[in-house]
Amino acid sequence: MISAQDDHLQKLIRLMTTAAANAALYHTEHRQVLRLSKQALNELHQLFNVHSNITLKVIDEQLIFTNKPVAKNLAVDRLLEALTRNGISHLQIEPGVYTEELLGFINLLSKSPDKQIDIKSSENIHFGQVEVRYKNSGSQQLAELNLAEIADYEADRFMDIYQTVRNKQKLEMAGINEIVNGFVSEFNSQSDAFMAIAPLRSMDEYTYTHSTNICMLNLAQAKVLGIEGQLLNDIGIAAMLHDVGKMFISPDILSKSGQLNEEEWQIMQQHPRLGAEYLLNTPGVPRLAVVTAFEHHMRYDNAGYPKTAHPWQQHICSHMTAISDTYDAMRTHRAYEESLDIDQIISIMLDLAGNKLHPQLTYSFLQVLSELDKSSEPSNYSAR
Ligand SMILES: [Fe+2]
Ligand SMILES: [Fe+2]
Repeated sequence: MISAQDDHLQKLIRLMTTAAANAALYHTEHRQVLRLSKQALNELHQLFNVHSNITLKVIDEQLIFTNKPVAKNLAVDRLLEALTRNGISHLQIEPGVYTEELLGFINLLSKSPDKQIDIKSSENIHFGQVEVRYKNSGSQQLAELNLAEIADYEADRFMDIYQTVRNKQKLEMAGINEIVNGFVSEFNSQSDAFMAIAPLRSMDEYTYTHSTNICMLNLAQAKVLGIEGQLLNDIGIAAMLHDVGKMFISPDILSKSGQLNEEEWQIMQQHPRLGAEYLLNTPGVPRLAVVTAFEHHMRYDNAGYPKTAHPWQQHICSHMTAISDTYDAMRTHRAYEESLDIDQIISIMLDLAGNKLHPQLTYSFLQVLSELDKSSEPSNYSAR
């Protein structure tokens, strides 16, 4: 039985990590981040009715509150990962906490792992750092904190999945089903589908972050179209696996930080076919994942790849994946590219609707996006 206090704590963690994800996507002053922070503050006040302060500790990869481990879910994992990454072993929030302080903490959570930032306690939010351990090897030497090893088990598990593919072993569908089921239930417990979007964590396009983002974005699209049940799960799984064929492409090509030459581009274009073939031979993979892996670069006007001998009718999931992929590529700024703001992304996607992307599905996608960002352009994109 979940106590009301546990429930407030879970809501608090979900609101903070979602606010951090949105802050990573936009900026800390974004309307959505402010709204979520205010809601998080409300949950804190509920907790202060019972507790004189809120103290969260990280012990053995567990989040501890009032001497008990906090039940794990995606939001708790994200918080744990952010705390351990920043070397925070305990966090204490006092009742006087105000919005700006909470925003400062959310800003800290939103930073990508490769950014080193200074952690400072504020008036009502106190951080306790991980003890620096020394190991004796003749002279006293600073031991590595080994933060990379800790937590983030969902990312680790997903990396395992990709590693399995790389090693040409059989894929274990149970693990993927479990991850996607987790996302679907997270979606079902939130009114705003886009809120669950994963924060930017890495420039590594083909691994965990990209696949989970596409999964979230596909689920968001499917939900607004009223898709539920097994098809919704299959769409999520198809999204998670759409780029699995990239595991058969040389990492030198995948991570090349500039334009591919003609030969490299030809190799890169093989990933839909390689992925589909691999998934076709993997027991338990939904057929939709095979189809989506094959079709996700075909484009609405069929000008993409792979080329087919006959006219080809693409599955709606492939169109949705192409839309999510286009959006994610634009909002994930890489070292060598300028990042685009949301208005630029919307305008580019409107230009692509009807040629690269399925028009109605693109308008529907942008409609959901506009719900998130009411302060931006008018919401009725279908007029264009
Ligand atoms: Fe792809
Ligand atoms: Fe992709």
